[in-house]
Amino acid sequence: MKNQRETEQQESVIEPQVGGPVAKKQKRKKLVKRFLLGVLCFLLIVGGGIGWGMWSSRYPERINMGTACHTEDMKDMKDMNMSDMGSMCQAGHSGSGTPIDTLQAPQTAAHIDTFTLTAQPAHLSFGSGNASDAWTFNGTSPGPTLHVRQGDLVMVHLVNHLSFGVTIHWHGMTVPNSADGVAGVTQDAVKPGQTYTYRFLAKDAGTYWYHSHQESFEQTGHGLYGMVIVTPIISTVHDDVDTALALHTWNSSPTLNGAMGTVHVSAQSGQWVRLRLVNTDNYPYHLTLVGTPFLVAALDGHDINGPTPLTAVPLSIDGGQRYDLRFHMPENGPVALLIAKDGDQQYAKAPVVLVGQGQYVSSALPSLSQNEFNFATYGQPRTDPITLQSHFDMTYTISLGFTIGFSNSRPGPVFTLNGKSFPNSPEIVVKPGQLIRLHFENNADSGIHPMHLHGHTFTVLTKNGRALAGSPVHLDTISVRPHESYDVAFYADNPGLWMLHCHNLFHANHGMDMMVVYPNISTPYTIGNASENFPD
Ligand code: C2O
Ligand code: CU
Repeated sequence: MKNQRETEQQESVIEPQVGGPVAKKQKRKKLVKRFLLGVLCFLLIVGGGIGWGMWSSRYPERINMGTACHTEDMKDMKDMNMSDMGSMCQAGHSGSGTPIDTLQAPQTAAHIDTFTLTAQPAHLSFGSGNASDAWTFNGTSPGPTLHVRQGDLVMVHLVNHLSFGVTIHWHGMTVPNSADGVAGVTQDAVKPGQTYTYRFLAKDAGTYWYHSHQESFEQTGHGLYGMVIVTPIISTVHDDVDTALALHTWNSSPTLNGAMGTVHVSAQSGQWVRLRLVNTDNYPYHLTLVGTPFLVAALDGHDINGPTPLTAVPLSIDGGQRYDLRFHMPENGPVALLIAKDGDQQYAKAPVVLVGQGQYVSSALPSLSQNEFNFATYGQPRTDPITLQSHFDMTYTISLGFTIGFSNSRPGPVFTLNGKSFPNSPEIVVKPGQLIRLHFENNADSGIHPMHLHGHTFTVLTKNGRALAGSPVHLDTISVRPHESYDVAFYADNPGLWMLHCHNLFHANHGMDMMVVYPNISTPYTIGNASENFPD
């Protein structure tokens, strides 16, 4: 820089000595030449930079997530590229360790629930002339809601009639690792014309959902998802009406169970109604119930202890999360479920769920400005297997970030975990029986990150450094907003190779994924171009 300026100064001193039209012409030529040279240099540097970024951020041909050949020490692993470790595994150790396919549910049980989900194209209409081509399970999106009883063995046959590979992940369910449905980690994506069977015990009651985990951003967005309801063996409460509702954006409009207008649910006054909601999108919504006070009965399928009635309180629901809302049907008028996009000042007039008879007067939309629901202070305290006073075997800080750069050869946004993006993100090694504490922090304005852990349910210990004051809260997806932090903890009680990622699937697609792994597990599956397994 300095040199260049000096040269320019020198030349401007020399210049007046020449003069004349020929000299001027030569000088202009020289300037043009120099300009073109500059442009060329600039392009070379930028092009080289882009090229290098694309090359260095590309996925390796094969990434093997197995740990059978890893050192178990997190210290050593921190700076190690997982793909390097993958190729080490490929180099000869892949036979050792516990094969992932052996981490299975029992072959049989007293009760078996069997389903077939066929991935197939469909043309969906959402009402009032709105329609779209979609990828579906059994021709609808959401796909069929699977109702099973707690403790049952669930068998799901996936048939693929689409022209690309798919899988099914059971979001929130603590399935054995081989049934987790993550392409390139627990199975190969199921190719067109092929079938695959998932088998797992429905361990915990509650509201769950399923979606493809091959190119999950694209495939879930295009409709490959549905809900799973696990009814408890012993219920503590009785519901007369029980309805599952999936929130999903089509043609940039929100829909509820694929409807842009009104969803009617019938209920008689005096009946208990449970609405189970999942947000299958990447961005948060706010929702509320009007017409009667309601209870937040469960979060991510797990009961809240001693829920208290709320009146038109806005609830925020982020990607992947679920709410179970309960209310007693009033004498008069319908109860309405309203939704609003994050950032909107008002609830939308549609879509809306109307429970019961009568018309809802939409001029009476409640305000969104009243204080939001805060799970950290809701319900009654109760003893819990995991508390802040528990002894934690390991504590990890995961800081959620954002940068502009390259992810998998694409220039643009990159979402990071401790400064790194998948597949170079750090991994967490847990041993069976350990109690693991995770500290999530979103220090910058890097967006909202609903962090989802596969195969485990975690207990929330703190929000912004403060212990929870209400009911114990058990989740599989925790939304970490800018400048928020949370501590969560879980027992390492389900051996395998598990993903921990943001459920804004765009963020996951752009690097925000890491692995929580148990030592000495081998997998024959790989992520990357060789297998065409791309879990996000
Ligand atoms: Cu609902 Cu890894 O996903
Ligand atoms: Cu995110």
